[in-house]
Amino acid sequence: MAQRDGFTSTFGVLVATLGSAVGLGNIWKFPYLTGTNGGAGFLLVYLLATLLVGLPVMIAEIMLGRTARANAVSTFEILSPKQPFWKAIGYMGLVAAVLILAFYTEVAGWVFAYVVKSLTGTLGHTDPSSAKATFGTLVSSPAQALSWQWLVLVITGGIIMLGVSKGIEAVAKKLMPLLFLLLIALCVRSLTLPGAAEGLRFLFAPDFSKIGTGVLLTALGLAFFKLSIGMGTMLTYGSYFRPEQNIPTTAARVMVADLSVSLLAGMAIFPAVFAFGFEPAAGPSLVFMTIPAVFDSMPGGRIFMTLFFILTAIASLGAMLSILEVPVAMMTERWSYSRKKATLITLAVVALLGAPASLSQSLTQDWKLFGLNAFDLFDYLSSNVLLPLGGILICLFVGWSYGIAKLSAGLSNDGQLKNRPLVRTLFVLLRYVSPLLIAIVMLKALGIF
Ligand code: TRP
Repeated sequence: MAQRDGFTSTFGVLVATLGSAVGLGNIWKFPYLTGTNGGAGFLLVYLLATLLVGLPVMIAEIMLGRTARANAVSTFEILSPKQPFWKAIGYMGLVAAVLILAFYTEVAGWVFAYVVKSLTGTLGHTDPSSAKATFGTLVSSPAQALSWQWLVLVITGGIIMLGVSKGIEAVAKKLMPLLFLLLIALCVRSLTLPGAAEGLRFLFAPDFSKIGTGVLLTALGLAFFKLSIGMGTMLTYGSYFRPEQNIPTTAARVMVADLSVSLLAGMAIFPAVFAFGFEPAAGPSLVFMTIPAVFDSMPGGRIFMTLFFILTAIASLGAMLSILEVPVAMMTERWSYSRKKATLITLAVVALLGAPASLSQSLTQDWKLFGLNAFDLFDYLSSNVLLPLGGILICLFVGWSYGIAKLSAGLSNDGQLKNRPLVRTLFVLLRYVSPLLIAIVMLKALGIF
């Protein structure tokens, strides 16, 4: 058998995994969800969800992938040959991957469009109404919305076809460090705007009256989404980890870095929102309206604005690569498809499913299910249903079927891990705490109890 592709260095593993975690979830979702759900109160709930559920599930997923060295379906077949039903986790992940890509590539398409618009100078305005108009024209034009989405699909697919080390890892190594630098520069600019304090107060002053069960589920869903867990992404990346990589440390680093990016993005956006009189609870369009305004108000702003959108495009790209890799790894390993064939098939399915999502502000705006248009439905179904459900099943698998002995062995990098208390804590979280928390939050939010 040919040598399986994988990440080639410790740094490569870290940036690729971080590249998966950092994405539109940080720069686009996190700020607007925090803005609409009570600022620091939401942040606190989000942090709890990350520590009690996110981190344990992430470590479990990576461990499973690295132990089996296979895609998300085959991993369960290999690790649990006597209980074939665990494979369902992998297939659920496949569905979630396609659903997420269907709306994610649309938002990424807006980002790519804004890169071009800022380059050509058609974005410079600080007043809310023209910023709204520019965004409105883009999302309500069927031709524009579709072609930007397809461009994103082609770019992502092209990199995936290059492979794991030469595609995913190579791109992440070049682009992730840049992303951090620019975000910091952006924050400095935003925090020195007049009125910045009000934005910070909005982001950090807790309003616990907003924290209902719906918000709990939103925070939990966001934790899954931002950490790329619950659908086999981390499992698939784990299968490319090097044997000596310390999994808990890597996962913890990724979590902290991911959180920092989210906070930086929040601190770059909210001060500007208040400085220029935008609506902090604007929802998904928030970033697209405020960022051009921040930059327009400073010397050399256009260059910074262009860079910001380029870097957001980069962040979204790293995340999309990791989502696309899930079905591609499955098809190449299970059905012996070439990477090219597997990629093209997945892209075709995503393009089909993604069309109603990207037209949901124009041609398909009346297509509603449960009162949600295609875009919101895909988002809700994946983040609030499939990912948490996948998370529960992964916890149950490790906690009740796989067991602590194998968990410990899986984490112990060729016998290196001696930290018993860590493994025990992790096991208790995976066996009882995380699945119970997810189940309670999900059932409550869905109105079942
Ligand atoms: N974490 C990415 C973000 O924040 C999105 C993402 C990548 C993802 N892979 C995933 C979400 C797997 C859920 C599952 O933008």
